Amino acid sequence: MKKGLLGIEALTTEEIQAILDRARHYKPLERSGQKLDRLRGKTIIHLFYENSTRTRISFELAARRLGADTVSITAQASSVQKGESLLDTLNTLVAMHPDAIVMRHSASGAPHFLARYLETSIINAGDGTHEHPTQALLDAFTILEYKPTLEGLKVAIIGDIAHSRVARSNLLLLSKFGAQVVLCGPPPLVPPELARLSPRVSLSYDVDEAIRGADVIMMLRVQLERQNEPYFPSAQEYFRFYGLRLDHMRLAREDAIVMHPGPINRGREITSEVADFPRSVILNQVANGVAVRMAVLDLLLGPDQPPPEIN
Ligand code: CP
Repeated sequence: MKKGLLGIEALTTEEIQAILDRARHYKPLERSGQKLDRLRGKTIIHLFYENSTRTRISFELAARRLGADTVSITAQASSVQKGESLLDTLNTLVAMHPDAIVMRHSASGAPHFLARYLETSIINAGDGTHEHPTQALLDAFTILEYKPTLEGLKVAIIGDIAHSRVARSNLLLLSKFGAQVVLCGPPPLVPPELARLSPRVSLSYDVDEAIRGADVIMMLRVQLERQNEPYFPSAQEYFRFYGLRLDHMRLAREDAIVMHPGPINRGREITSEVADFPRSVILNQVANGVAVRMAVLDLLLGPDQPPPEIN
């Protein structure tokens, strides 16, 4: 976290804990609308080469609540459309002296490549199929609102694992904190090499087996935009074998929570009955995104002295 935030992989458990603690500190601001001046005089550019609702808006709200100036730009509305390269685009933005660039890109490793060339802090808001670190941080924060610790939890991550940066960042974070992670989906969408990242990660192709005894069920969207070939015969068949229905919940622990990073596709990977049921925390995840992103921005760009008490 010294210069930017590129992924969970490079963070220590102490750094992750510091982000979660700071997010907990800022969480009460969610409803009060109170603004702080921790980042007054700082400018943050949000550069999104891929669509986003949750990540982009919550980063912007987080920056503004800390008093920063923000500018947002999408690839569709920028000179990228005129053929400007990624590096030239970033050099152009850096010439205007932002303090940080929050970026999302479809190429895995794009922010890591730029961080090697640029002095400005880069925050990864999702790079291809690689990492989405702030999603994993807000997911951990949300789990810890319902469970006393991550250690020993069984977390079933179900869906299109192969194309999911959310799955990768989550399995890295959760296994660092001692959770047991089961990755489940159709065999072509569950890369066996992910199980080699940690002894706490296992694979399953059977939803019932993955959910049995789970404390947390994390459903993923099928990322058709990243698939060049069909990985399963039809949406109906996918839902039949890998969609989450209410009757599955009997297999999980009785206090199990259901998560989804969004956007959700009702009837494709999750029924409305489960998405909207009392132990679904999908909208809590969205809400927590603001506090967690405030914590990341504050720890990266804010003053060294501790934040003020929040009323
Ligand atoms: N979870 C997530 O990254 O959502 P968005 O694509 O809407 O930002």
